[in-house]
Amino acid sequence: MNGPSPQSGGAGGPDPAAVSNMFGRIARRYDLVNHLLTAGIDVRWRNRLVRAVAATSPDRVVDLATGSGDVAFALRRALPAEVDIAGLDFCRPMLDEAERKKNERGGGANLTFTFGDALDLPLPDAGTDAVTIAFGLRNLADRARGLREMHRVLRPGRGHLFILEFTQPARWIRPFYFPYLRHVLPRLAGCVSGDQAAYRYLNTSIEGFPSRESISREIEAAGFEDVRCQPMTGSIVTLHQARKSSAIPRHRPSR
Ligand SMILES: C[S@@+](CC[C@H](N)C(=O)[O-])C[C@H]1O[C@@H](n2cnc3c(N)ncnc32)[C@H](O)[C@@H]1O
Repeated sequence: MNGPSPQSGGAGGPDPAAVSNMFGRIARRYDLVNHLLTAGIDVRWRNRLVRAVAATSPDRVVDLATGSGDVAFALRRALPAEVDIAGLDFCRPMLDEAERKKNERGGGANLTFTFGDALDLPLPDAGTDAVTIAFGLRNLADRARGLREMHRVLRPGRGHLFILEFTQPARWIRPFYFPYLRHVLPRLAGCVSGDQAAYRYLNTSIEGFPSRESISREIEAAGFEDVRCQPMTGSIVTLHQARKSSAIPRHRPSR
């Protein structure tokens, strides 16, 4: 869930090469650090997303910025075996972790992991029922472009978008949360992962991330409708959901 400490990659987001490089460095310890830093609550956050996806009965799901694949595996466990699930990421070592886990665990029928860029999806128009992205939106170099790509690949009418991301926490939790994020987390994560610098960005990227209302507006601007958000755990994390309209747009959003 953490992010790197890259320079801006333009369009307001981090530099993609630095993002990929950083996740490559921490890939082996990524899951362990996540579970430690959140005391295991990250599993519940992902399960909430998976339940929301299951409620839409998709036939084909694409999990963007899949990383080590935890959302994809949770989807595989929750959805019928014939549902096609594809995890996509642009960091090879993270995908290697996902593949390693798939081989270890088995039961990965109709579950594939693919190298690809969320800003230029190697997927056809209107062929996907659900797009998920957990803790990935914050790391995209160009969020608007990423959201337009997600819209493009979804089926009109029944295509749903699910975004799990850190958001600005509720006021009451800030006096505990921000000191934890700024001081405790990088040290703890640094000890376990051996890469403290990598985890310093988690704080800056979360504090600098737009409000969930702004993110809702960005989702709408990409062409989605029925945009909703569900804050969790004192609003530390929010599940955003939206649907692609069945109406044919008068002009296609530019990529
Ligand atoms: C914080 S991890 C999230 C991993 C996983 N979704 C989870 O729930 O733990 C962010 C992931 O986003 C990936 N990522 C960032 N920008 C990307 C892009 N443009 N295309 C594909 N993957 C991207 C990184 O490589 C990294 O694996």
